[in-house]
Amino acid sequence: MIPQSFIEELKLSADIESVVSSYVQLRRRGRILTGLCPFHSEKTGSFTVYPESQSFYCFGCGAGGDVIGFIRRIENLEYVEAVKLLAQRCGMTVPEDAAEDRTAKLKTAVLEMNREAAHFYFERLLSPEGKPALDYLLGRGLTPRTVKHFGLGYAPAGWTGLTDLLAKKGYKYEDMEVACLARRGKKGNYYDVFRDRVMFPIIDLRGNVIGFGGRKMTGDGPKYYNSPDTPVFKKTKNLFALNFAKKQKLDNLILCEGYMDVIAMHQAGFTQAVASLGTSLTADQCRLAASYVDEAILAYDSDEAGQKATKRAIGLLDEAGIRSRVLTIEGAKDPDEFIKKYGGARFKRLIEGSAGAVEYELSKIGGKYQTDTPEGKIDALREAVNLLAEMKNPLEREVWAAKVAADYGTTKEGVLAQVQGKLRRRAKSEERRSVSAANVSRADVNVVPEKARNPAAAAAEERLIGALFRHPECAKDVLLKISGEDFVCALYRRFFGKITEAVSAGNELSLSLFGEDFTLEEQNAAAKILGAARENRYSAEDAVSAAAAMRRLKEKKSDDEIAALSGSDLTEYIDKMRREKRNK
Ligand code: UTP
Ligand code: MN
Repeated sequence: MIPQSFIEELKLSADIESVVSSYVQLRRRGRILTGLCPFHSEKTGSFTVYPESQSFYCFGCGAGGDVIGFIRRIENLEYVEAVKLLAQRCGMTVPEDAAEDRTAKLKTAVLEMNREAAHFYFERLLSPEGKPALDYLLGRGLTPRTVKHFGLGYAPAGWTGLTDLLAKKGYKYEDMEVACLARRGKKGNYYDVFRDRVMFPIIDLRGNVIGFGGRKMTGDGPKYYNSPDTPVFKKTKNLFALNFAKKQKLDNLILCEGYMDVIAMHQAGFTQAVASLGTSLTADQCRLAASYVDEAILAYDSDEAGQKATKRAIGLLDEAGIRSRVLTIEGAKDPDEFIKKYGGARFKRLIEGSAGAVEYELSKIGGKYQTDTPEGKIDALREAVNLLAEMKNPLEREVWAAKVAADYGTTKEGVLAQVQGKLRRRAKSEERRSVSAANVSRADVNVVPEKARNPAAAAAEERLIGALFRHPECAKDVLLKISGEDFVCALYRRFFGKITEAVSAGNELSLSLFGEDFTLEEQNAAAKILGAARENRYSAEDAVSAAAAMRRLKEKKSDDEIAALSGSDLTEYIDKMRREKRNK
């Protein structure tokens, strides 16, 4: 942990206006500055810098935060790294503290334990105990060489095989838990997280084992279990097998869904295959890929979910500057199955014949409608026009407009005129949208999932936090009325915790309170609340009334819950209340 006092000092030196100005051209408008947002593409300047509160917020994409958050985003850095970079630019040195040292030691220990674990799983796979697992892998067509190359393994069915081994080697149980290799039972005992599973180690670009995927061979329940995030593993920032893929000169990467797909492709000679790790593709993963290639071949599953994921990936990759081609896998569910069924040579032809992203999407559109009827043609054309309107390059639009026109028996000029109309309408609505930032965006629902079902409570909590920021002096009054438990939204409860912590320590309130322990999306949410507080000029009374509203809503909620109880539950509830009363 970097001391908060240092952060405040740093922020005095690293003025947000001058820091942002070196990335974004800003125009002053009274007390604020605006410019084109560097975090999404736009034509109108929705990006706003507030020198007074040393913060920024984009009304277009919802990105927001303090100067450190800005650097984190634009340089794609972790919190501590962003602080270090800023400090370096200001000629300051980040104090090395004991805690940081501890974190570094913990990371080293986790990496060592992961390596031990990988060895253990591998060795178990080759032991009699692991025979069914080895047979399973060979049965799926892997050669012993492939098994060894990927360091696949077997986590035995017993409860403490790995945990005992690591303890014997001197590792602490608490650290095993941090590594997500062991879990603590009710009686305080520790046991293995991965049991009776085929193991896929996840290796980073430096060759460290950072996590595992474990596949069940039989039984129900989730097929794969993956390491959650640990101090050494962020699954949204890594790609499985990129460590192998990057060993060669790359023309492209093949992106697929699963461990087995990657491994089957590598075995068949397609060593540029990688997979996102049990999550859908993220922007971070695309940026990572972009530092190696400018083209990706999407080889997702042929089912509907896979096709949806393909469409989404094309957009994300495009934003990272990667063009896509799309494999159409017919006669098999995924690349692994395809290669097993038809062989590598046919898979190679599939790759060579893979359509560009536009061609892929146009053919999807064509397949969706009955294009031999005028109505079907019009629907398809309308959708094709939407697709063309997404293209940034006018020349590209021309070329595809010609194809669309030929496909549907109309003229290129006609298609282009439609596209222009669409673009004009879109520019207008974008302008309108950038003005009203108050809508519940998708990002909101992601970080504050409770908001969807409890809009009133969420609004009260936002008002409370916003008002507290403007009037920290009323925090004491508010604390008499309300505590963290009264919050419905978990994120807002955490904000509130930080605020009360700062107030009781007599510290300043600023956005940097939501630094280290919060994700960028969570910081955006904080910046948005502060923006609303500023716009609506929340007063101290607002804080107090928001707290009262929260209490009221909470009481009403428990009334509703009582009303929803069934007859016998209700009798039980009343009995319980009576007993409690008597005991008082
Ligand atoms: P799939 O269900 O498509 O499995 O999941 P698969 O890759 O074809 O697996 P096999 O061939 O049956 O072994 C694709 C990926 O999604 C993640 C895993 O990373 C998997 O490789 N996944 C799937 C999970 O994380 N958990 C699950 O329960 C299932
Ligand atoms: Mn599969």
